[in-house]
Amino acid sequence: MESAVRNIALIGFMGSGKSAVGKLLARKLGYDFVDTDAEIEKQEGCLIRQIWKDKSEEYFRRLEVEVLKKVTEDEKKVIACGGGVILNPENVRRLRQNCLVVYLEATHERLYERLKYSSNRPLLNAADAKLEIGRLLAARKTIYQEVSDFAVDTTQLNVKGVVENILTRIKQEE
Ligand code: S3P
Repeated sequence: MESAVRNIALIGFMGSGKSAVGKLLARKLGYDFVDTDAEIEKQEGCLIRQIWKDKSEEYFRRLEVEVLKKVTEDEKKVIACGGGVILNPENVRRLRQNCLVVYLEATHERLYERLKYSSNRPLLNAADAKLEIGRLLAARKTIYQEVSDFAVDTTQLNVKGVVENILTRIKQEE
């Protein structure tokens, strides 16, 4: 499918499917796929959880700003953004200026199901991961909504279903 959209940024909570959806969406559009977490891991030569442990969250967040700056300067990219990208106003400004921003939504319950065996997400190393997901989601939900051009509820959809949904919405936006 031909699209006039410069870049597409996928935002949303951990476990909302940004990477899986992004890969398929990029293939359908003939865009490049980039994942901000994977870029940071490549640059640092180690996993996110190691970066947080050996350096700090602040260090990781600085890398996130640099990586987002670099990838949004390009065009024809589908960008899967780390769940916390929207916490920084500089990132938000870049996303809004250079991308169509899509929020992948899911319920607390569904996110927990998808995340309960995840080991590379330092924010979920809490005594009660489900509670922590709920707390973070409540704090971020409005930001995800406000930053995005539109949202797709992924709770009941598989990856293909989410991608079809996004493609339909993109056509309407153009
Ligand atoms: C984070 C989400 C993670 C990763 C880091 C912090 C967050 O990315 O960037 O663990 O603050 O929500 P995913 O959303 O791809 O899991």
